[in-house]
Amino acid sequence: MSRRNKLYEGKAKIIYEGPEPGTVIHHYKDDATAFNNQKRDTIAGKGILTNRISAHLMTRLEGIGIPTHFIKSLNMREQLTREVEIIPIELVVRNIAAGSLAKRLGLDEGTILPKPIIEFYYKNDGLGDPMVNEDHIITMGWADPYELEEMILMSGRTNDYLNGLFAGIGLTLVDFKLEYGRLWGEHGELYIILADEISPDTCRIWDTESKKKLDKDRFRQDLGGLIEAYQEVAVRLGLIPREGLIKGGDINESLAASLEEIENKLGASRNIRSITRPKPTKGQPQH
Ligand SMILES: Nc1ncnc2c1ncn2[C@@H]1O[C@H](COP(=O)(O)OP(=O)(O)OP(=O)(O)O)[C@@H](O)[C@H]1O
Ligand SMILES: [Mg+2]
Repeated sequence: MSRRNKLYEGKAKIIYEGPEPGTVIHHYKDDATAFNNQKRDTIAGKGILTNRISAHLMTRLEGIGIPTHFIKSLNMREQLTREVEIIPIELVVRNIAAGSLAKRLGLDEGTILPKPIIEFYYKNDGLGDPMVNEDHIITMGWADPYELEEMILMSGRTNDYLNGLFAGIGLTLVDFKLEYGRLWGEHGELYIILADEISPDTCRIWDTESKKKLDKDRFRQDLGGLIEAYQEVAVRLGLIPREGLIKGGDINESLAASLEEIENKLGASRNIRSITRPKPTKGQPQH
């Protein structure tokens, strides 16, 4: 394990070289950060929950035909993924006003938006991940029009699916952030793949009835009870039993290992959807 080649260490994950070319291992850390790394803490057990929830949601999305980077769970904190070239854009899908949108537009938190809004942020920590528009993205070459269209379509489908999934377990998906990457096939064909992470670290999730926050806002706003909140999401998704995996920072290791097994079986058969539409070329009519 210690001989593994570390490729990158981010705020929430460490990326190691995978066992085969084209694969990487995502190691989910217990570190919590907010406000562009200005607020930091370590929350025992968080990485176990974000790893498991992300693996599960990616598997479910794969099940409706959205290609994702997820290959399989490796252990409590690690998953094997396809290595992609990350497109340096974060797509934020919002259903309900909260966070920076509520602040920027002067909306009350909890205002239901008439339709989902997609926002784009340029992934650049030095610049504080500034919000950008489609014109910036195309003009700066961060993604081409075809890639951008694909990401928007996939984000819309993901939103519809996750909204329904969460609604069915008494949770409201307020907003979430997605990252995509490029993957080239044997014949040079390009795939746009859902990458990074989908977890309470990257989503806003409220209990539908009580409106209790079950996501990273508990950390951002010093509300406490972050592990309990993330566990509640995992319990409702059917990933861990009601008594939970983590108590007072102690982890039930044998339970975690047996749950991993189940997760792997779920994700055993997956195909990457091929993208058949040709790249748009200049001057061609768009349909
Ligand atoms: N399948 C993948 N292949 C390659 N890189 C990936 C993949 N999925 C996610 N990444 C990248 O791994 C990095 C580590 O994740 P982490 O969430 O810790 O980063 P971060 O601190 O948020 O940093 P960043 O600002 O780069 O996103 C991120 O830069 C993310 O874009
Ligand atoms: Mg991240």
